[in-house]
Amino acid sequence: MTVHTLGIIMNGVTGRMGTNQHLIRSILAIRGQGGIQLPNGDSIMPDPILVGRQAHKLQALAEKHGVARWSTDLEACLADPHNTIYFDSQTTLRRAESVKQAIAAGKHIYCEKPTADSLQESLALAKLAREAGVKNGVVQDKLFLPGLIKLKRLVDAGYFGRILSVRMEFGYWVFEGDWQAAQRPSWNYRKEGGGGIIVDMFAHWRYVLDNLFGEVKAVSCLGATHIPERVDEQGERYACTADDAAYAIFQLEGGIIVQANSSWAVRVERDDLLTIQVDGTEGSAVAGLRDCKVQHRVNTPKPVWNPDIPNPFKFTEQWQEVPDNQLFENGFKVQWELFLKHVVTGSPFPWDLLEGAKGTQMAELGLQSWAERRWVDVPALEL
Ligand SMILES: NC(=O)c1ccc[n+]([C@@H]2O[C@H](COP(=O)([O-])OP(=O)(O)OC[C@H]3O[C@@H](n4cnc5c(N)ncnc54)[C@H](O)[C@@H]3O)[C@@H](O)[C@H]2O)c1
Repeated sequence: MTVHTLGIIMNGVTGRMGTNQHLIRSILAIRGQGGIQLPNGDSIMPDPILVGRQAHKLQALAEKHGVARWSTDLEACLADPHNTIYFDSQTTLRRAESVKQAIAAGKHIYCEKPTADSLQESLALAKLAREAGVKNGVVQDKLFLPGLIKLKRLVDAGYFGRILSVRMEFGYWVFEGDWQAAQRPSWNYRKEGGGGIIVDMFAHWRYVLDNLFGEVKAVSCLGATHIPERVDEQGERYACTADDAAYAIFQLEGGIIVQANSSWAVRVERDDLLTIQVDGTEGSAVAGLRDCKVQHRVNTPKPVWNPDIPNPFKFTEQWQEVPDNQLFENGFKVQWELFLKHVVTGSPFPWDLLEGAKGTQMAELGLQSWAERRWVDVPALEL
């Protein structure tokens, strides 16, 4: 019985996503459970090295979580043959350059989305990885949310009949940073820093729609910068140069129509930060991050428009919960485990850099649609 120890360079690990989701909830959780067991009795044990620019932050993070290795020297980490995987959760604009360096050093690649800020660059990464023969993957965490897993179950069961439309409401109020600190980094609101909700969220919407309902064929998008000025981490006022809301319609193969509102300037009066309503001929569903409720055609009430009387229906009470029926683990961890197995055993891992490039393409076409005030078709991507 062999223990496959995988040295993983974790770059950008002091950030919001890097620390919480990737280091603590994924890699350290996998180490804590004794690694990943393989069917043949072997196991996989990740051995992270925390990489970044600021030694004091890395050292503090490493000490706090009992991680033995950290470094400010990416090149040295890449030169060390013990490290076989390069992971990147830096800010988006920094990713492509570092990923290219890691591919050149022969490392397998796993990284956050978006993989780059242009389709050309995202495709270049996918091509380089393929040519180098390194395994590669991109975070597509929303697919592993319990609510979306339940939704996929309903699709696979044929519950909806013919799916007509999908409505996605994503967003919450991100504080401006003056009288309350903002809960997202300021680069998100600066175009020149790689920010913008279209670049951020359309990368998600692409794989969510492609995987659950059918390939996205066309997009119409109107973006907005509702909050023109915010206050950054240093308390300085800055002009918001990136979009903070996007109002989009997607057309999918098979004629499904998707409306997607994404906003960091909206107050939540719904069950969750993301809700997805699916209406089909046989039934409907509304999924949040963890829950999913359904209303079959035989349970559908028959309201009649009459504002002269009080509303006799309690619409939200006319839905039924889809049961868990399984244990749900953190989605980032689940995807990490699949990627690490893929590296060691060659098991399937469909969410590669080419799939990641589709997300960048979606964002680029959304921005184009907004700029040109028109529908834009989504061409197939090839390397
Ligand atoms: N999968 C998801 O749901 C999800 C959610 C949020 C963010 N993200 C993505 O994750 C990435 C990181 O986002 P975040 O919110 O954690 O950002 P963050 O600002 O909290 O962290 C960014 C990290 O990059 C590092 N960094 C920034 N500038 C650098 C530079 N010049 N040189 C070296 N390192 C530098 C920072 O030190 C930090 O470790 C982004 O690409 C973002 O799009 C994904």
